Amino acid sequence: MTENVVFNALLIGVFASAAITVLLLLFVNAPYGRHQSSGWGPTIPVRLGWVLMESPASLVFFYCYFTGARAFELVPLILLLMWQLHYMHRSFLYPFQIKVKPGARTTLLVIALGSLYCGINGYLNGTYISHYGEHLNREWLTDPRFIIGVALFGFGYYLNKKSDRMLRELRKSNPGEYQIPYGFGFRWVSMPNYLGEIITWSGFALASWSLAGLSFVVFTMANLVPRALANHRWYQETFSEYPKNRRAVIPYIL
Ligand SMILES: NC(=O)c1ccc[n+]([C@@H]2O[C@H](COP(=O)([O-])OP(=O)(O)OC[C@H]3O[C@@H](n4cnc5c(N)ncnc54)[C@H](OP(=O)(O)O)[C@@H]3O)[C@@H](O)[C@H]2O)c1
Repeated sequence: MTENVVFNALLIGVFASAAITVLLLLFVNAPYGRHQSSGWGPTIPVRLGWVLMESPASLVFFYCYFTGARAFELVPLILLLMWQLHYMHRSFLYPFQIKVKPGARTTLLVIALGSLYCGINGYLNGTYISHYGEHLNREWLTDPRFIIGVALFGFGYYLNKKSDRMLRELRKSNPGEYQIPYGFGFRWVSMPNYLGEIITWSGFALASWSLAGLSFVVFTMANLVPRALANHRWYQETFSEYPKNRRAVIPYIL
């Protein structure tokens, strides 16, 4: 009963903070990466920041998942695999793949808020799938929502990872600098990695058919759409030859 109250309160909290986040980020750029700036308090090394920020999503999910009654059923196990495929990579591999300038630092406030959210997100989704998701039984395997959700997840995952890899290659060819990326999803949008991330979690939400999953898509969009718009403006202001027909994050639209 208490668990249920905590779960619902956190779920409502995430939807409310998504609304606040999108409003805030339309006016202020989160101070990391190309928008890193002073005046936001202490900073920490970039790689450490990524590990601290993302790992709660993986670890808290594991804990909540394996304390649930459905932990060893097939559909929950597939959803666990999807989640951890992304988050084990993002928490423990991605931070050591990115090319960072020696001594580069990131804002602790961003890491602390991101880490808090990732922990709550891991709790909501891990708990829902293994404790509450009664529909996630064998019949769900053939439900179109599950099948389309898994396919979308796979497509988004590929788009996100390949775009991130292309940016790393670009950085390798010109260390410490930004260049215009070309090809693949960059033909259509400035931030195909963000588009891939949004599609990934839309697929997960569909496959798990849960408010917890939906809260994650909404929160991801609240963060990444304003950031994509800011990065797109930054590209246009920085490079006079920037492709005119490229959009920020949604091909032909935004
Ligand atoms: N779910 C969520 O809410 C959420 C939130 C944030 C991020 N993410 C995900 O985390 C990943 C990283 O996000 P991000 O905001 O750091 O993405 P990003 O701005 O695209 O940067 C990704 C990496 O590529 C480098 N880079 C970017 N543009 C470049 C260019 N034009 N030339 C050379 N190098 C370039 C960046 O270096 P610098 O660091 O030096 O800029 C960084 O190391 C993405 O996959 C994103 O989808 C998810």
